[in-house]
Amino acid sequence: MKFFIDTANLQEIQEAHDLGVLDGVTTNPSLMAKEGIFGHDNVMAHYKKICEIVDGDISAEVIATDYENIIKEGEFLAELHPNIVVKVPMIRDGVKAIRYFSEKGIKTNCTLVFSAGQAILAAKAGATYVSPFVGRLDDVSTDGMQLIDQIVQIYSNYGYQTQVLAASVRHVMHLVQCAEIGADVVTCPLNVITSLLNHPLTDIGLQKFLADHAKGNK
Ligand code: E4P
Repeated sequence: MKFFIDTANLQEIQEAHDLGVLDGVTTNPSLMAKEGIFGHDNVMAHYKKICEIVDGDISAEVIATDYENIIKEGEFLAELHPNIVVKVPMIRDGVKAIRYFSEKGIKTNCTLVFSAGQAILAAKAGATYVSPFVGRLDDVSTDGMQLIDQIVQIYSNYGYQTQVLAASVRHVMHLVQCAEIGADVVTCPLNVITSLLNHPLTDIGLQKFLADHAKGNK
């Protein structure tokens, strides 16, 4: 399972990269705004900085919601760097644009997916990734993980090449359940990745090993 970090914060991206387990990055307009990155040129420059840190797929989201402009924006983004994946919302013109990008060999991430039907459409259109939002479904009392399970099953039934990118992953249990189900990718904040390190028995065990080692070296 690939690990993507879901942030536009360069320090956090660098930290996850330095841990040696990072495969890619997802961003969205809210994450860019959170970092105070506004304006076309600043946003494009920021994507380039992310691409310099991580040699993996970097999702950059289009703002346009009509076909012509999604294509224009997506082609511009794809030209920025070979690792850019054009993130396109699950809307009618978005699906049409994903088909276009797929035929042009431009990688896409179909975002804001909340149902198995939407995921089937994304795969039929030729999306490279589909992003079902687990946490946001949980937020409205719907089992987000069940959706991941459903999509993985459906894609396997038909051999769809679209990779299931579990998004809106909020905690370690989400991540572990995605691995059990067989999601291709999870994208999550840095703290979810670093939380995987933690177990109290590891800390207690290490303290004991070091204390016993120190006894013999007095
Ligand atoms: C996906 O690519 C989105 O950027 C993201 O995972 C949304 O997460 P959130 O629901 O925590 O905002």
